[in-house]
Order: sequence, then structure tokens, then C-alpha cells
Amino acid sequence: MDDKDLGADLAGVLIPEDRLQAKIRELAATVDADYDGRDLLLVGVLKGAVMVMADLARALHSPVSMDWMAVSSYGSGTKSSGVVRILKDLEADITDRHVLIVEDIIDSGLTLSWLVSNLQSRNPASLEICALLRKPEAVQTEIDVRYVGFDIPNEFVVGYGLDYDEKYRNLPFVGTLAPHVYGGRA
Ligand code: XMP
Ligand code: MG
Repeated sequence: MDDKDLGADLAGVLIPEDRLQAKIRELAATVDADYDGRDLLLVGVLKGAVMVMADLARALHSPVSMDWMAVSSYGSGTKSSGVVRILKDLEADITDRHVLIVEDIIDSGLTLSWLVSNLQSRNPASLEICALLRKPEAVQTEIDVRYVGFDIPNEFVVGYGLDYDEKYRNLPFVGTLAPHVYGGRA
């Protein structure tokens, strides 16, 4: 898909499909090297992480299981507040397991820092984070993200799992949303 096929809601392509896929392969190689054949539980955060989870899992050689959590972060508009509610909990008992949280994007980092303390309290053997995208505001939260795909500007992005009003998740690339769609706020 090129620019002229984009809907009027999209401002442009930020990360094209080939760069996304190359980065996923690179992240997978690092994860493989780090876990060195140990059993790994990938925890995907619904729904945004579906694409990165599916591609990362297939690029890994380590033995993995996959589980999912859905959380909702109370907040106004596009900003999260850090007050999080579990909509769907894990099915797996993560006690003594190596857990890797797979996320689409870190903005303020509040959602993820809540998730980390929640999962940490279940006593996993290890707990790390892999996030495909990271926005500049994330530096304000003290959260150790071991694997990051791309640092991106503070713009609202969609595609490759990320949505605006549940649309655009199926785009194979990451695009920027035109400000007129979300009222100019990132
Ligand atoms: P925090 O601020 O807690 O929020 O790190 C992370 C969650 O906010 C959503 N988010 C976005 N979703 N395009 C999206 O489609 C964006 O640019 C964007 N920025 C933040 C997302 O659900 C993420 O998990
Ligand atoms: Mg998300």
C-alpha cells in the first residue's frame, strides 16, 4: 500500500512493513540469545500487541508459550491515568516462569508499570518487557524496558495492531493519524 491508497484519516507511513519485519527479526535474535533455550512465556497485552506477538513468536527459536492479558486504563481521551483494571487475566500460573511482556507501544508507561508490579507479585523467575514502539514521554516513568523496537515522536500512530476507534489495526505498517481525526491531541 502506498501513500495514495491511504485513507484521508492517515497523514503518512512512519514505519514501513519491511522495516517493521526486519526489526522483529532483530529483536527475536536478541531474545533467543538472552534466553538461550529456556522456556519462555510470552504475555501479549490485548489488543494492540496481537501483530507484534504473532510475528515475534514466529521469528523466535526459543520454546515459547503464549498467554494474553487485557487491561483498561482509566483516563481522559487518549491519555492514560495509571489506574488500571484487568479485563482478562492470564490463564497461566507464572510462578517461577520466565515471562516476557509483549506490548505495542509505551506512551506515559503508566499502564506498563502497573502491569509489571502486578505480574511481579506473582513471583515469576524473571520478568522483562518487549515493546515495539516507545514515545518520548516514557522517560518520565522509571521502567526498565529490555527490548525496544523503535523510538518514535509524540504523534498518534495506528496500524500493525494499533487502533484509532478500533480501526486501522490490520494495516501492515505503522502510520501517523491526521490531527483532524483525533482533534489535534497526541
Ligand atoms: P501509557 O500512557 O500507559 O499508554 O504508556 C499505553 C497505551 O496507550 C495506547 N496508546 C496508543 N494507541 N496509538 C495508539 O493506537 C498511539 O499513538 C498510542 N499511544 C498510546 C496504547 O493502548 C498503549 O498500550
Ligand atoms: Mg496497548
